[in-house]
Amino acid sequence: MDRQILSKAIEYVGSFFKNDASGHDAYHTLRVYRTAVMLAEKEGADTDITALAALLHDVDDKKLSPETHLNFDNARRFMTENGVDGETQNKVIDIISKVSYVGENSPVPDSIEGKCVQDADRLDAIGAIGIARAFAYGGSHGRSMYDPSVKPEHFTDEKQYYGNKNSTSLNHFYEKLFLLKDLLNTESARTIAEKRDEFMHAFVDEFLDEWKGEA
Ligand code: ADP
Ligand code: NI
Repeated sequence: MDRQILSKAIEYVGSFFKNDASGHDAYHTLRVYRTAVMLAEKEGADTDITALAALLHDVDDKKLSPETHLNFDNARRFMTENGVDGETQNKVIDIISKVSYVGENSPVPDSIEGKCVQDADRLDAIGAIGIARAFAYGGSHGRSMYDPSVKPEHFTDEKQYYGNKNSTSLNHFYEKLFLLKDLLNTESARTIAEKRDEFMHAFVDEFLDEWKGEA
């Protein structure tokens, strides 16, 4: 693959995600790109395919770009305009179509490159940055930070996961973020996830203690 495509993709996502305040700013994509390539190197995966899929993984996100999500129009257009061959395009689209978390039975990409991108995306949803992203997302979608009368739920499939409109940002930890460490594909990602998961648990414990007046 022409190395220039990756710098063009970095430029593209920089302008695509400019001004996003829902936890999907360009830095999210750049962190996923960096982490995915690091995992790909450890796993012996193709780093170019991993890098391109990581950079394009959110440009047709269901929540951000519902009108292009169905056919992954933005990713396809970017690749076509930059001369990416058909076979590579299909590999990248296959990855980004399966990367997102959509409930406990979320799909797993078939390729090792896709598994690295999925793990990188999930690592960015946990730990200190994951906490910040959850509250940024909640705020931008008008969700409450916490409401003790709203209990966390189980979402197994995409319909249930996206159908849930009333949950709170704190419930999101039980509904998704605490589950991610056991849903990772690679050993290297699992190792990184351990510390981040512990940190999130400490945060939520402290949050609830303060809420109850016990801290
Ligand atoms: P990703 O970019 O990792 O695929 P999503 O698009 O699902 O993640 O969501 C972006 C960020 O917002 C993530 O950090 C995610 O955990 C958070 N988020 C998603 N849904 C909710 C929610 N219902 N409440 C709070 N945070 C959420
Ligand atoms: Ni993402």
